[in-house]
Amino acid sequence: MQAPKILVFAGSIRSGSYNARLAGHMAKQLALADAEVTQISLADYPMPIYDGDLEKEEGVPENAKRLKKLMTKQHGVFIASPEYNSSITPLLKNTIDWISRLSDEGEPPSAAFRNRVFAVGGASPGRFGGMRSLITLRTILEIGVGALVIPDMVSVSDAKNAFDERGDLNEGPAKRAAAAVAARLIEEARLRAT
Ligand SMILES: Cc1cc2nc3c(=O)[nH]c(=O)nc-3n(C[C@H](O)[C@H](O)[C@H](O)COP(=O)(O)O)c2cc1C
Repeated sequence: MQAPKILVFAGSIRSGSYNARLAGHMAKQLALADAEVTQISLADYPMPIYDGDLEKEEGVPENAKRLKKLMTKQHGVFIASPEYNSSITPLLKNTIDWISRLSDEGEPPSAAFRNRVFAVGGASPGRFGGMRSLITLRTILEIGVGALVIPDMVSVSDAKNAFDERGDLNEGPAKRAAAAVAARLIEEARLRAT
């Protein structure tokens, strides 16, 4: 049986990002459960802010095309989403917006988001663990671009104290939620890998 391929990334490129740490933790959990994990940083896929005129003049940026191609090879995707003013980061929204513009011939709109399963999580130094960004991200993915998102989520509050020196989540509810998300994501991704 083919190992499910899962892409993992965070909606922050800040050095020391808590969400990059959460992405790292999830990548490890998924790899331990025998997924073929690819972890990327959006720093390696810089894109200008979406602008319809730019798209008309220059087309969709190469980095959006590269990322769409990578996403299309996956059976599952995990996104760690920071919360900015109750929503997702402009970086993450911009990335989704550009990629949603790409469909090859015969593909449905927002092709990169279809035919694979998504899971979301978030980390914040605050009390609510970025939960509002997760609700917004879920809406964008499900209603905006037609993705299937598993119901389980992981939300890491007090993120400053939530990780050990290796970058793993400390024992507690967030670690248990992360394990549940990883298990469900793999299960759903595996259905798409066979
Ligand atoms: C513009 C801005 C708005 C923010 N708004 C929120 C917020 O609404 N809720 C929250 O929990 N944290 C908020 N924060 C704090 C972020 O959660 C914190 O900066 C976090 O470290 C960002 O994620 P990262 O560590 O992955 O970069 C905000 C930060 C910035 C820069």
